[in-house]
Amino acid sequence: MKHLNFNKEFKNYDANATIQKKVADKLLTFIDKNTFYESVLELGCGTGIFTKTFFNVLNFNALDLNDIFNTKEYFNTISYRDFFIDDMSKMHFDKYSLIVSSSAFQWVENLEELIRKLSFSSDNLVFSIYTKGNLIEILNHFSISLNYLTTTDIYNLLKKYYTNVKYIDETFSLEFSSPLEALKHLKKTGVTGFQKSSYSLTKSFNYKNLTYKVSYFSCEK
Ligand SMILES: C[S@@+](CC[C@H](N)C(=O)[O-])C[C@H]1O[C@@H](n2cnc3c(N)ncnc32)[C@H](O)[C@@H]1O
Repeated sequence: MKHLNFNKEFKNYDANATIQKKVADKLLTFIDKNTFYESVLELGCGTGIFTKTFFNVLNFNALDLNDIFNTKEYFNTISYRDFFIDDMSKMHFDKYSLIVSSSAFQWVENLEELIRKLSFSSDNLVFSIYTKGNLIEILNHFSISLNYLTTTDIYNLLKKYYTNVKYIDETFSLEFSSPLEALKHLKKTGVTGFQKSSYSLTKSFNYKNLTYKVSYFSCEK
């Protein structure tokens, strides 16, 4: 079962997206700050956690943004050129000096097809993605999971389209005061659609921690 709940939860997202903020900070270390990028495209920008991380640090001329939802209201302080409200896997891409994305590619069903298209559009791709074992507690209890790939799966498919691929992976564990708090946290970050789960199944959730597994990739042609 896959649920994109971001639309309803964007207003709560920034205050609760602890992991996504850490991931955004770390992803920035993968981008060369001494290079001038004529054009940058960010895919799955959401409320702009990553955008606001790189906006004043990277050296670029034009910035285009994308999200499947209209999140423009969160970008009042950012000057961008275009905002494409679209499913990134259905888009056709112009040429960019750099394409970036943080905490979004795990939602894409056919990652290889997206990567293939992006590799024609830009010589530089930098992204973070959640990987196999992410939110294992939710899978164990609710049998709900995105189709997470392993870091090796992703590396192997990137190597088909880019010459230089660097990566690291990281695991975070977030602790909560109760299992219910853990579930509320997930709901507020729009991760999955718990409204579909039965009350008794939600009540018997027994984990007070959530595991996040993330990989960072930097690819060059
Ligand atoms: C976990 S949020 C990350 C947002 C932001 N990049 C950050 O670092 O906080 C994932 C974002 O990807 C967007 N998204 C999911 N699937 C998408 C798709 N197929 N095309 C475009 N955006 C998508 C969601 O709407 C959401 O805003």
